[in-house]
Amino acid sequence: MDWDEMARPWLEAAEELEKTLRPVQDTLMQAAALGSGEAVLDIGCGTGPTLRAAAEAVGPEGHVTGVDIAPPLIKFARGRVPDTVDLIVADAQTHAFEPERFDAVISNFGTMFFADTAAAFANLRQAVKPGGRLAATVWGPPSANPYFAIPRQIIDRHVADVPPPEPDTPGPMRFGEPRALMAALEASGWTVEIATRDVTLTPPNVAEEVAEMLMKVTIRMMLRGVEVGAHQLSAIKADLIEFCDSSALNGAIVFPAQIHVVTAHAT
Ligand SMILES: C[S@@+](CC[C@H](N)C(=O)[O-])C[C@H]1O[C@@H](n2cnc3c(N)ncnc32)[C@H](O)[C@@H]1O
Repeated sequence: MDWDEMARPWLEAAEELEKTLRPVQDTLMQAAALGSGEAVLDIGCGTGPTLRAAAEAVGPEGHVTGVDIAPPLIKFARGRVPDTVDLIVADAQTHAFEPERFDAVISNFGTMFFADTAAAFANLRQAVKPGGRLAATVWGPPSANPYFAIPRQIIDRHVADVPPPEPDTPGPMRFGEPRALMAALEASGWTVEIATRDVTLTPPNVAEEVAEMLMKVTIRMMLRGVEVGAHQLSAIKADLIEFCDSSALNGAIVFPAQIHVVTAHAT
């Protein structure tokens, strides 16, 4: 996936995305159980919401490093995380991190995009201290995530022959069935536990705005490389608004969602 291309829409929707995904971030931070004074590496840190949470958790004696492959996201993060946080533009799969530098690696939805997942986790394994740990969140299956499944159904209604994602290729739904993720971690020197959690996403705005956020990020990601006309895009948006309206409860939009929470220890 080309994150240089995705960085602009991600930035445009950054605040809404961060608020919408806040329950996932909270679940990750709970699983990571960061302690005062720890050194932490955040993989695919994006606009930096988990960097702020990690910096708070480790305190002034600790240290946080964020790495992301997309320069515009790192630039944006720089303006909103404490100065003490180190930020690196790099491919976490291959970057030469200082060996045995970190107590913990964390990643909120950042591990689904590696070309070679086992190689990436082997690289991260070198970066943690003996006994170091990893905590990461990934999306569960589309069947438990209408936030992805319904936009995909809407695309199929209006655009012919959009191919489904190839199995085990970079993308948000890659580890919905998490066996390949578990195998990649075990093959690269980690012991792994995966817990599946239901979360509720509540975007902070009205149906039309949520539909716009889905257009900017989710639909754009799903339609990469596909020619689509303006009339098709407006038909997709109209159906998204209807989907968002139908997801409203007591005046707020509510999407049930499912994630896998990965915790691993370096062997
Ligand atoms: C779904 S976003 C999540 C961003 C952030 N963790 C959050 O919770 O808002 C995935 C992030 O992973 C980054 N990414 C993708 N592949 C990467 C790689 N190989 N190395 C480092 N970062 C990567 C993307 O640029 C993007 O910022």
